[in-house]
Amino acid sequence: MVSAAAGVAAALTTLRGCDFLSSADSNPEETAALLQLATQLKSGDRRIDLGNRVLGLIFSKASTRTRVSFQVAMARLGGQTVDLNPSVTQLGRGEPLEDTARVLSRYCDALAIRTFAQQEIADYAHWATVPVINALTDLEHPCQALADFLTMQEAHGDLAGQTLAYIGDGNNVAHSLMLCGALLGVNVRIGCPEGFEPLSGVLDQARSLAQHGAVIEVTSDPSKAVADAQAVYTDVWASMGQEAEQLEREQAFAGFCVDQDLMDQAGPAAIVLHCLPAHRGEEISADVMESPASRIFDQAENRLHAQQALLAALLGGL
Ligand code: CP
Ligand code: NVA
Repeated sequence: MVSAAAGVAAALTTLRGCDFLSSADSNPEETAALLQLATQLKSGDRRIDLGNRVLGLIFSKASTRTRVSFQVAMARLGGQTVDLNPSVTQLGRGEPLEDTARVLSRYCDALAIRTFAQQEIADYAHWATVPVINALTDLEHPCQALADFLTMQEAHGDLAGQTLAYIGDGNNVAHSLMLCGALLGVNVRIGCPEGFEPLSGVLDQARSLAQHGAVIEVTSDPSKAVADAQAVYTDVWASMGQEAEQLEREQAFAGFCVDQDLMDQAGPAAIVLHCLPAHRGEEISADVMESPASRIFDQAENRLHAQQALLAALLGGL
């Protein structure tokens, strides 16, 4: 009989040394095992020591949760982080990415990068000789999706066949939810205004990856999106880099606020999720955010546990 810890370790050996640039970079078994390891780490059933390994953090956009949860995750795993904000390194003065990536690979055991273009982290991954982790790009937020489905699993158990409704912009967060949800067998319904749909290429990819018959859908009717859903999720209407579109987006997204009226149309035990930061009164009402259905702060905590699991897998700490 294989122990739970050995089963998880066996499922995760294939991720050792790999990059994690997209939610599609782990297969269904690896994705489920990452959630299982995160649960074991959270409960204290499992301890992992990465032995002084160092994670470099290259963040070109603001961050509270992702930056701090990576810092604390590495500390808890016996390692440390180095803050490599481009404005204080030679990157900000134009040192080429290919040189930076090769040099940093000589000091760091992995790099977590938050930036705009997905191509930039793909370029880092090409030149670096250590794992590169997507800490958010304009295209995806794969570390967030792991914490999101961990939170849903804690609330409702086995994820296969459950439904997550995402109400709002078809953005980076929506893309990773579609891909990660598909791998875990979760039906993902995106409810967004016309013109703000997720990219069709990501939709096709999610559908092609879908396990256990999971259905990935897009609708412009928020009521239809949340019907019978076990989780209702939202994110800001204007992402980082889209600040100039704030007013135009507020108009386009009218009717797409996750408020009590919309929650009443979801499944009876539906939980509320938000990746944060939140704009109360825009994409989510203040009362729903503070309601008993809200798991938003558990979700934020779960960034820490999910990323510890990911780091342990990529850095071979199992
Ligand atoms: N959810 C999330 O990624 O938050 P930060 O931007 O604070 O890292
Ligand atoms: N979609 C948001 C997520 C923030 C965590 C953004 O990219 O700004």
